[in-house]
Amino acid sequence: MNVPWQYDEATQVGTDYGDQSEVSAYDERMQQLRNTEAEAKDIERALCLTPESTVWEIGTGTGQCAIALSRVVKHVYATDVSLAMLEYARSKAKRQGIANVTFAEGGFLSGFRPAHPVDGIVSQLALHHLPDFWKSRAVVAAANSLRSGARLYLRDVVFQSTTSDYDAFFQAVIEGVRAHAGEEVARQTVQHIKTEFSTLDWILEGLITRAGLKIVEKQGDGFVSAYVCEK
Ligand SMILES: C[S@@+](CC[C@H](N)C(=O)[O-])C[C@H]1O[C@@H](n2cnc3c(N)ncnc32)[C@H](O)[C@@H]1O
Repeated sequence: MNVPWQYDEATQVGTDYGDQSEVSAYDERMQQLRNTEAEAKDIERALCLTPESTVWEIGTGTGQCAIALSRVVKHVYATDVSLAMLEYARSKAKRQGIANVTFAEGGFLSGFRPAHPVDGIVSQLALHHLPDFWKSRAVVAAANSLRSGARLYLRDVVFQSTTSDYDAFFQAVIEGVRAHAGEEVARQTVQHIKTEFSTLDWILEGLITRAGLKIVEKQGDGFVSAYVCEK
């Protein structure tokens, strides 16, 4: 239902992933910095996926994870609010001969929804685009689309409540990013902390459990955390 107070999730915060040049630059960077095949293997394990599973990826970006998962499951729905991202992901899948991914326009809050409850949902580095109240709506909506017993894999920048000095912590994170990934990613990390909606662990964990999901596993390096949550 569209209501006048509905958050406008089509307007990007921070980096503009609706911009075509940003999309290819993002994909190039991610191919260099991440081992997306290993990430997909971990997601396959965490979500207990089988060749019969149907999976929904929310905020698919350039489709790297959706494409990797499509090789081990029956079908993947891959959604994003950015048409530029979707177009890029769709042509990447086509070039690789992938036929079991449905790319569709939609966000956490609106747009495409799978017609039936799915066997797993994955979302990486996307939920922080929503302010906290809307994150809670997003996690409830995701939970509603999971079959009973199925799992959500939610990975994002999450601030740890055990951190005593955030300025020193962020400084160390940014220096680490600069050394590992270069000046541009360091600049984007600063922008992320300053303008995007990453939240605290206790807030995110509270809204996951209040959505009726049980956190069965938590992984993280202090800056990025992944939650495996079961319905
Ligand atoms: C940092 S990229 C992450 C892409 C991909 N998941 C990855 O791990 O590389 C963030 C993605 O979230 C998408 N996004 C932003 N707001 C969203 C929303 N409300 N619902 C779904 N996706 C959203 C952006 O368009 C972008 O593709």
